[in-house]
Amino acid sequence: MIRRMVTNPMPQFPAGFLWGVSTSAHQIEGAADVREPSVWDVFTAEPGRVKDGSTAAVACDSYHRYHEDVALLAGLGVDAYRFSVSWPRVDSPGGLDFYDRLVDALCAAGVRPVVTLFHWDLPVALDWLERDTASRFADHVSVVAERLGDRVAKWITLNEPAEHTLLGHALGVHAPGRRLMFDALPVAHHQLLAHGLAVRALRAAGAGDIGIANSHGPTWAASEKPEDREAAEFYDLLLNRLFSDPVLIGRYPEGIGELMPGDVEADLKVIAEPIDWYGINYYAPTRVGAPQGAEIEFGGLSFPVELPFTVREIEDRPVTDFGWPVVPEALTELLTGFAGRYGDRLPPVLITENGCSYEGVDDQERIAYLDGHIRALHRAVEAGVDVRGYFVWSLLDNFEWAEGYARRFGLVHTDFETLERTPKASYTWLRDLLRAQR
Ligand code: BGC
Repeated sequence: MIRRMVTNPMPQFPAGFLWGVSTSAHQIEGAADVREPSVWDVFTAEPGRVKDGSTAAVACDSYHRYHEDVALLAGLGVDAYRFSVSWPRVDSPGGLDFYDRLVDALCAAGVRPVVTLFHWDLPVALDWLERDTASRFADHVSVVAERLGDRVAKWITLNEPAEHTLLGHALGVHAPGRRLMFDALPVAHHQLLAHGLAVRALRAAGAGDIGIANSHGPTWAASEKPEDREAAEFYDLLLNRLFSDPVLIGRYPEGIGELMPGDVEADLKVIAEPIDWYGINYYAPTRVGAPQGAEIEFGGLSFPVELPFTVREIEDRPVTDFGWPVVPEALTELLTGFAGRYGDRLPPVLITENGCSYEGVDDQERIAYLDGHIRALHRAVEAGVDVRGYFVWSLLDNFEWAEGYARRFGLVHTDFETLERTPKASYTWLRDLLRAQR
């Protein structure tokens, strides 16, 4: 069944469609000894925070081995490489030199650099509960843009402010490990403000082609019962619309604006600063029902929380090694839903992350996952959604946050003892797909 699906020819994407892969600094760079610490260094040093007790001090050592990674990208034949610039590294003497070298190496290999300016590794002295962090971010962005702006193809202000708020500040399973529940909402607002200020800082530095990478997925009500529908709507508001409405239409969803700090109306004008494209990270849909006095389980931890919804299992679907359901058609649903909701306020879309964790180098399940999702993406394009690119998460097996090295999302296997990189079956499959697209 899988074989048959995979051998059907992949439909052709429009000319100029951008194919890429994504990574982030903290998850691959290592070389923690030659940068300032981030909240993730503090968090991983605390016992019990990361499942396998590991840290990202070495990770894939891409700081020293970036030439190997660039050669892998060139061999794969991607148009673009999305990586993040570590703010604590930029704050260290000579830190930007590394990104200068990386960007040069990418350009020399014919791979366009796509830079994420914040992917969760906040310098330890800073805190998203403080409004001032947004201005500090804009200053940092100006420094990076001045140095790299002549060669960077696209800029991404933030990666997944939703997860950084929810997992890092509401539930405490990611750095900085706070369990503020709904008191974490200012963290969302300050990140969104930082996004808007960063767009302005980039434009002031002469940089263009700017977007954000927000995580989104369809929310399915557990049943037609009013209490399940209401719970699903609330979940959708909190995880999806809270982050897309302000950016795309300059408004918070109903009832949220009054919970945010500061002069929210004035801030929304900054947050809605026009962008050139909208990035979506998609992994899976979520089925949501009425509250059941739930226990939240994450990263091997489980604790009781009072939430106005419960996440339910999506039955009859294969799951990845992470336990995430594999539902490719939900990507079509997500994209057509976005186009319907935002109409001409939605700029062109890029899928800035999509991928799955599976063990093994002969990773046929990853091939099936990617094949299904790329076809689902094509159906959205056929339905008229203006999608301009697709990035696989991730180039390499890497440090998967609270899961440590237990989850393997790479097209390339990393041996974390020897740091040797071995392309998986999915790497060869994607290379051939890209060749056929050209
Ligand atoms: C993040 C990545 C992460 C991936 C898989 C996204 O939420 O942006 O950093 O590794 O999902 O969990």
